[in-house]
Amino acid sequence: MSLQWPYENIDGYLYVDGVSTIDIARRYGTPVYVYSENLIRKQYKLLSSTIAKYYPKTRLLFASKANTNISILNILLEEGSEIDAVSPGEVYLSLATGYKPSQIMFTGTSVGLDELNYLLETGVRINVDSRSQLERTLNLEVPELISIRINPEFGAGHHEHAITAGPNVKFGIWDQDAVEAYNLAARAGVKKFGIQMHIGSGVFDVSNYVKASSRLLEIAKKIHEETGISFDFIDLGGGIGIPYKPEDMQINLDNFMDTLFGFVKSKLSEYNLGMPEIWFEPGRFFVAEAGIILTRITTIKKTPYKNWIGVDAGFNTLIRPALYGSYHEIIAASKLNGRKSKHDIYGPLCESGDVFGHDREIPEVEEGALLAIMNAGAYGYSMSSQYNSRPRAPEVMVKNGKDWLIRERETFEDLLKGQKMS
Ligand SMILES: Cc1ncc(COP(=O)(O)O)c(C=O)c1O
Repeated sequence: MSLQWPYENIDGYLYVDGVSTIDIARRYGTPVYVYSENLIRKQYKLLSSTIAKYYPKTRLLFASKANTNISILNILLEEGSEIDAVSPGEVYLSLATGYKPSQIMFTGTSVGLDELNYLLETGVRINVDSRSQLERTLNLEVPELISIRINPEFGAGHHEHAITAGPNVKFGIWDQDAVEAYNLAARAGVKKFGIQMHIGSGVFDVSNYVKASSRLLEIAKKIHEETGISFDFIDLGGGIGIPYKPEDMQINLDNFMDTLFGFVKSKLSEYNLGMPEIWFEPGRFFVAEAGIILTRITTIKKTPYKNWIGVDAGFNTLIRPALYGSYHEIIAASKLNGRKSKHDIYGPLCESGDVFGHDREIPEVEEGALLAIMNAGAYGYSMSSQYNSRPRAPEVMVKNGKDWLIRERETFEDLLKGQKMS
């Protein structure tokens, strides 16, 4: 794997933005999540500046489910991001970071009344996922703005579970119910409207966005014609793919946005939809590549079939490989230059599925050596757990040769927190 900034091979050791991973592991222990502040900022700037070339009125909402560490939320706030929250907890953390309610949109599914009450109290924007949620919201309070998540009948993604639109998917309101839903909101006194879709995650091919946008915009046209409603914004969701496998290419964002906005602009004008703001909700695009997990080798074990490397991170630390069969590049952070051979890398959980990769090319390493699991900045910590009663790993930020802790390692006392012995 060829390393790209902020990752560097210095004398066979992995550095992140000028900081030695050996030093990080020594200072904070392993496993540990390490993030590059500069790369998060770079990704945000890249997407926002590219989009600005193709459309004048856009907003980027960070899908905070990817990573809710408040240091990361704060970096994105400073860059100008807003927030896509999928739970009251994410709303709470975003408000605690300093986002204004008007900078947060809640997109939930199967949302309870107590949750709706909390959301209305905070004053965040609400993007409803069902007619029932809309009615319950309006019964509690009529917000100034309502957005509706539409299922554009077509989805895409890196795994069946990461496809979030289409016939077999729970999300969104369908075409046949959309007009009535917006009518209901307008009759209740809602003044401003948005329309949203999110088709899935790990999408590389712009034609998937075009196809789904095509259906979304047809539905928006129908709503506009039949209700007279104009949209303040059209939110095209998140899901922009990032390269996890060596053969994955970075998306050519210029081509991507040129094609997508070429299509969207022509339909906005053909359907007389004016010029609403166009929003995106990327999660992994901002943070995935900026994060790695450093994990120490505990065990080298040869069987008649495999050369196993046991590490101290498991699917409690990064669940994507076990959950989706996702590929994460794994490199020997403390021995980047050695001659490589095939190894299978496994974690400490009592589960056969606790394996990060098979037949990975790793140099001959010894117990105590350090591995780095790459592209772990999104859906790493945020999907972590205490499974097998393992306290969660700490998070460390690096920038320009400096490193600091942004979340402490959990302790055994954290395993007892809130428990009562009866
Ligand atoms: C509603 C919504 N928006 C945005 C995202 C972000 O997806 P990604 O991290 O792939 O960009 C998700 C992820 O599942 C989502 O559910």
